[in-house]
Amino acid sequence: MEYITFALAKGRLADITMDLLEKMGITCEEMKEKSRKLIFTNEELKYKFFLAKASDVPTYVEYGAADIGIVGKDTILEEGRNIYEVLNLNTGKCKFAVAGYAQAKEKLQKNNDLRVATKYPNIAKEYFYNKKHQTIEIVKLHGSVELAPIVGLSDVIVDIVETGSTLKANGLEVLEDICPISARMVVNRVSMKLEHERIATIINGLQKLTEDAK
Ligand code: PRP
Repeated sequence: MEYITFALAKGRLADITMDLLEKMGITCEEMKEKSRKLIFTNEELKYKFFLAKASDVPTYVEYGAADIGIVGKDTILEEGRNIYEVLNLNTGKCKFAVAGYAQAKEKLQKNNDLRVATKYPNIAKEYFYNKKHQTIEIVKLHGSVELAPIVGLSDVIVDIVETGSTLKANGLEVLEDICPISARMVVNRVSMKLEHERIATIINGLQKLTEDAK
C-alpha cells in the first residue's frame, strides 16, 4: 500500500484537522510530541503528514508532493492552483472584505484610481477588475494591512475580517463584503483517481464530522 500524504497549514488549523482525523481512526502519535520536526508518519496505516506554511499547501498538492491538503479558502483563491477542492470543513470561518475609513465609501463607489493595500493581490484584482469593473492600483503588503489607510498609504484595504476587532480598534470599518472564507480539503488531481477509495473514505468521514458546524 502506498502512503497517503497530507499537507497541513501549520497552526490552529493543523490541530483541528488532526483532532478530526483522530475521530476517524487516522492517528499520528509522533505528531503529538513537541518537536521541530516537519513530517510525521503512521507506518501501520500508511499515512504521512507534514506541516507547511499555509500559502504553500496548494503548491504541494498541485505537484503531488501531498495527496491531500487542508487549508483556508483565502489561500486557495489567492494561489489559484490546479487542484480539486472537495470539502468545506466549516471551521475557521471569516470573510474577505474591503475596509477603510467610513469616508472612503464614496470614493470606493465612484473612483477608478483607488489605491488598495492587501496581502492578497489576486483576490483584490479579481474583485475590483472582474466584478466591479474598476481600475485600481494595488500595493502588496505582508501583514498589519490595517496600517495602510491610517498612514495614508492606501484608500482602502482588502483583507480578512474575523471578529472585526482589528478594524474597530483602529477606527476602520467594513465597506464592502467580498466573500466568505473557511477551511477546505483539497486533493491532487492524479491522487483523486489513483487513490480514489481511500480518499473518498476520508472525504466522507470528514464531511460527517463537520456537517454540524454549518
Ligand atoms: C488577520 C487579518 C486581520 C485580522 C482580522 O491578520 O489580516 O488583520 O487577522 O482578524 P479580526 O477581524 O478578528 O481582528 P493576522 O492576525 O493574520 O496578522 P497580520 O495582519 O500580520 O497578517
